[in-house]
Amino acid sequence: MIVPFNKPFHTGNELAYISESLKSNKLSGNHHYSKMVKEWMFKKHGLEGVFLTPSCTAALEMGALLLGIGPGDEVIMPSYTFTSTANAVLIFGAKPVFCEIHPKDMNIDVSKIESLITSKTKMIIPIDYAGVPCDIAEIMAIANSYGLAVMHDCAQSYGSLYKNEISGRQAHLSCYSFHDTKNFTCGEGGALVVNEAFRRERASFLMEKGTDRSRMLKGLQEKYSWVDKGSSYLLADILAAMLLSQLQAEDEIKKKRQELVNKYYDWVANLKFAQQLLVCQQDENKSSNGHIFYLILPTRNIRDRFIEKMDLSDIAAHIGYVPLHSSSMGTNLGYKTEDLPITEDLAGRIVRMPIFTGMTDDEFNYTISNATKILSSLLT
Ligand SMILES: Cc1ncc(COP(=O)(O)O)c(C=O)c1O
Repeated sequence: MIVPFNKPFHTGNELAYISESLKSNKLSGNHHYSKMVKEWMFKKHGLEGVFLTPSCTAALEMGALLLGIGPGDEVIMPSYTFTSTANAVLIFGAKPVFCEIHPKDMNIDVSKIESLITSKTKMIIPIDYAGVPCDIAEIMAIANSYGLAVMHDCAQSYGSLYKNEISGRQAHLSCYSFHDTKNFTCGEGGALVVNEAFRRERASFLMEKGTDRSRMLKGLQEKYSWVDKGSSYLLADILAAMLLSQLQAEDEIKKKRQELVNKYYDWVANLKFAQQLLVCQQDENKSSNGHIFYLILPTRNIRDRFIEKMDLSDIAAHIGYVPLHSSSMGTNLGYKTEDLPITEDLAGRIVRMPIFTGMTDDEFNYTISNATKILSSLLT
């Protein structure tokens, strides 16, 4: 049996919606299906100010542009994240300032944020690793007391809940990913959520190449023209058609993935060497969308050998992010590996187990029985 790491899920409605979109002859951004997706997000989660983008990377960039991030600014973020989080501010000339993560959930360690704030700090970008919400209320409290903006990178957490509200509604701006590695996908896609109403009109200009075309489409004026900076940050409507079919299946997809995560937790709890393994701590205020299940093994060497042996059994288990501060780009920016010892240590020991919505019982059982044998051979 071959167990892949991920396999995009098909809800069954994708082709019908895509075919409708084709027939409409309106394939570019902000047409029928984009509106349907936004209406769906509002109805399901109360999300307003949603701008569908070609990726989460584009959403992060659009957010940084909207907030006027520029040369001389500092932006605090975890080093344990994807390159897009840092690039979103770096490309505008700002400096990413890397913060440690907390071993309880691999998200930014809130207690270490304040010591990084300087007179140049403009923004904090926390992420929700594995789909598990970060401590966003505490982060907002710090940001508000220093007058900083928060752009929440929810690339992995569409559908996750923080105090019973979707992750992405709490910060000034939030970004989702609908890449095919994510729970809900249209191949490549994303969204910027502008939670502050007063910023939404300007966001609509930035996304449409710096024009006020959105006002024309609303019937507020006859023509549109160049009014601001901008770029092309629109998701094609034909992709929004696919996305709608996925978001409409949110409850089914989430239930399946949460069941898989819970089965992984039960598996670990029953292992005789469970105390040598670290898993994400569960928190009653947070409900993950089941995006990732990971283990932290005792050493980097054991982690690497575990992945190799799983691979020999045709099971794809993966490492997590490679810390940004110690990457070659991070080093060029002046960071040293030893600047963030906790991040470096945890990132060297993490392994992500295969998980996908269509995972069968046979695939799951094959995975855990092989993983149990391999762990028994590596741990004493
Ligand atoms: C935290 C984080 N931010 C941003 C991204 C980029 O998402 P996209 O591929 O939609 O641009 C990813 C991708 O996995 C991510 O993990």
